[in-house]
Amino acid sequence: MNIIYKEGKENTDYSQVRTFLEAQASVKKSFDEEAVKSLIGNSTYVLGAYDDEKLVAFIRVLSDEYEWTLISDYGIFPEYENQGIGETLINKVTDRFKGHEIFAYTSPETISVFEGQGFFRSKNAFTYSGTDDSELDDSISNSTYFLPLGYRYENEFYPVVGDFPQGIKSKATISAEDVKYTDSAINVDYNRVNEILSVAFGGHERDINVTRGAFENSQYYEFAFDKDKLIGCARAVSDCKTQGFILNVAIDPGYQGIHLGWNIVTKLAEQMKGQNIFLNTHPGGVGFYNRRGFRRNKTALLYPAHPDMPPEIAKGFILPAGYRFVDETL
Ligand SMILES: CC(C)(COP(=O)(O)OP(=O)(O)OC[C@H]1O[C@@H](n2cnc3c(N)ncnc32)[C@H](O)[C@@H]1OP(=O)(O)O)[C@@H](O)C(=O)NCCC(=O)NCCS
Repeated sequence: MNIIYKEGKENTDYSQVRTFLEAQASVKKSFDEEAVKSLIGNSTYVLGAYDDEKLVAFIRVLSDEYEWTLISDYGIFPEYENQGIGETLINKVTDRFKGHEIFAYTSPETISVFEGQGFFRSKNAFTYSGTDDSELDDSISNSTYFLPLGYRYENEFYPVVGDFPQGIKSKATISAEDVKYTDSAINVDYNRVNEILSVAFGGHERDINVTRGAFENSQYYEFAFDKDKLIGCARAVSDCKTQGFILNVAIDPGYQGIHLGWNIVTKLAEQMKGQNIFLNTHPGGVGFYNRRGFRRNKTALLYPAHPDMPPEIAKGFILPAGYRFVDETL
């Protein structure tokens, strides 16, 4: 055995990746050449392990290159397991994207591989299933991957974030029908986007360069306007083919509580129809997503940007190391 790691799209054997993804898929899938070109071409990072010339393990990543990263395909052929190859792939990703919140959603069998490399099970990850839940693919909409609609953990943690809906009436003075939306980021005022993100997420100052750069590295957008005033935003990083993740959903606090958040998220998801749509929120955002249209993920993992989070904060985001659901026999 002679394992060689090859990083980068230019060093990737597309035709072997195609066969590999088809073999690895938990749900039977086939990819045409164009699809593989697109999902590798639109990935931020790809890495393969080859035994001489044969692809034996693979990982790819979607990232905004600033704050958020999603491992969107990871797999290894069974005869190459337990030799440190999978672990090396994951480590190379956590090194390359150090300082980001790194997510993965994986098959139940691979959870312990990720846990061994510093990942924790995420409590607040969701998959968008379409406003009509019947759109959730039957083969995955079972208890292996998803928690029941509206699921709450016993020790759920509810910090106060933003003004709504902690018992405060919406401050909005306009009607939701008067709000205009656009999916284009051309001419968007990133200073205003930065301001909305800052006030919506508890008033913390944000670096405008991070906001602008992260939005510019995204593929899908929704912005909401009251006349010329930007009042809400959301974006998604995606391979534009199979997977994407929703980020920075925020409504100006003066306009929260009139369904603009819901509209913006469903419009964004509509643009990504047919893709697996992932998102990871914070404890205060769970109630917003934990309803028809979203399913709380059971097999999502998080490699935190700040592994030294105080335990009272961490418990809102991640499950204790080695946590298993009662119906799991992993
Ligand atoms: C979360 C946020 C985007 C929601 O937007 P919004 O326009 O205020 O919410 P909507 O009016 O669309 O709410 C849709 C539904 O979710 C409920 N809801 C909204 N926020 C909620 C929350 N934090 N917890 C529980 N339920 C919530 C609403 O009551 C409403 O319920 P209904 O359909 O029964 O009337 C907005 O409050 C916000 O910007 N918050 C701060 C930033 C943030 O947390 N973003 C999400 C993180 S990924």
